[in-house]
Parts: sequence; C-alpha cells; structure tokens
Amino acid sequence: MDFQELVHSRRSTRGFKDRPVPKAVIAEIIEDAKRAPSSMNSQPWHVHVLTGAPLDEVRRRNMEEMVAGKPSKRDIFTHGPYEGAHRERQVGVAKQLFAAMGIARDDKAMRQDWVLRGFRQFDAPVSLVLTYDRVLDPGATCHFDLGALCYGIVLAAWDRGIGAVVNGQGIARSDIVREVASIPDDEAIMTCVALGYPDDRFPANAVKSERTPAEAFVRYVGFD
Ligand SMILES: Cc1cc2nc3c(=O)[nH]c(=O)nc-3n(C[C@H](O)[C@H](O)[C@H](O)COP(=O)(O)O)c2cc1C
Repeated sequence: MDFQELVHSRRSTRGFKDRPVPKAVIAEIIEDAKRAPSSMNSQPWHVHVLTGAPLDEVRRRNMEEMVAGKPSKRDIFTHGPYEGAHRERQVGVAKQLFAAMGIARDDKAMRQDWVLRGFRQFDAPVSLVLTYDRVLDPGATCHFDLGALCYGIVLAAWDRGIGAVVNGQGIARSDIVREVASIPDDEAIMTCVALGYPDDRFPANAVKSERTPAEAFVRYVGFD
C-alpha cells in the first residue's frame, strides 16, 4: 500500500473475523515494526504474542476482575481521568463509536457491554503484549520507544489487511497477563495490541476518528 493511503486509511479495528492469523505473518509484522527508532538504538522492547487458550484465559480473568469492580493493576503509571481538551477528544471518539454501534447514551447495559469488549481485547484472535526492560524505569524514553514500535506494528498489520487496536484495557490486570504468559519480572508491561482480520460488518470498524487541525498544535519558527 502507498504510504499516504496506509496512514490515512488506517483506523482501529474492534471487531474481528473468527480467523487465525498465521504465525509467519505476525513474524513479518514484527520484522517491519522493529525498524522503529529507539533511544540510542537501545531497543528496550519485548513482544509476547498470545493466542488460543492463554489469550482466552487472560481475557476471561481480566474481564471477571473488572466486573467484580476490582482496581486495575498496571506496571506503568497512569494519570487518571482526562480533563479539558483531552476529555473532549475522548468523548468525541466514544460518541462516534456508540453512534456506529447504535448504543444510546442512556443504555447502561450496552455501554457496559462495550467496556467489557475492551477488557476482552475485542475477542481478537491474537494479542501482542509489549513490554520493556524494567531496569530503564523510571524514564519516558523507553515508553517513547515502545510507542514507535507499537505504531509500526499497527501500520505493518494494516498493510497486510490485518486490523489492530492498541488496547490499554487488555492489560488493566497486568499481574494476570504476566502470570498467564509467564512474562519475566524484569520486564514492565506497557500495553497490548489486539490484532486480527477485520470483520467488515462490524459497524465500529468503519469509524474514522477525528484529528485536531494542525494549526492548533503546530508552530513554525524561523520560516518566512
Ligand atoms: C496507548 C493507547 C491505549 C489505547 N487503549 C484503548 C483501549 O483500551 N480501548 C480501545 O477501545 N481503544 C484504545 N486505544 C485506541 C484509541 O482509542 C484510538 O487509537 C483513538 O481513538 C484514535 O482512533 P484510531 O486509532 O481509529 O485513529 C488506545 C490507543 C492507545 C495509543
């Protein structure tokens, strides 16, 4: 796919076909993504690729904990609820997704169902759990490096007709992910990417999220 087309057609996928993704294709995606830049070429990342029974166990237990109202347990520090412009953008994309799915504002049951889908990693056939070497904590650069790898994964997947959604909800109970996937203690769990062939009949997959006009966040200095 042409780069412009790749970047501008990509959108998060939250409905997947019940079709496995071949291991060889996942390996190709990771080969492409690992060309991402990283601080001083430190490449602090690890990718744990889950499918089948272990992934089902992660999503079941992650969801059960959330239904029971237990707090999340993440390795990474999170800032809490968004406010101001960030909150507005969060609400904006949620409205787009709910409208596509026909979920009414006051339909608590369907809204809860949507949240639980997220905790189940949208029932994707594959989940890539991204971790970094914990020895680099505290530090933003390794988080930055993982972001670069992560976008590479998402784009390389899309280029092959495979959809993905970066899925913070999927690692809300990082302790469960660590236990089931036998992730070593010297790695910190950053996020996961749910991945699979997009179900084109799933309405939310058509949602094109909005972006702020560049004038609102870009300054040019020293140009004519
Ligand atoms: C760090 C990170 C965490 C995310 N976590 C979730 C999540 O838990 N659930 C979800 O539905 N989408 C999640 N997303 C996807 C964003 O909602 C999505 O990228 C954003 O709304 C823009 O939409 P687009 O990817 O379709 O362009 C996450 C994205 C990032 C980068």
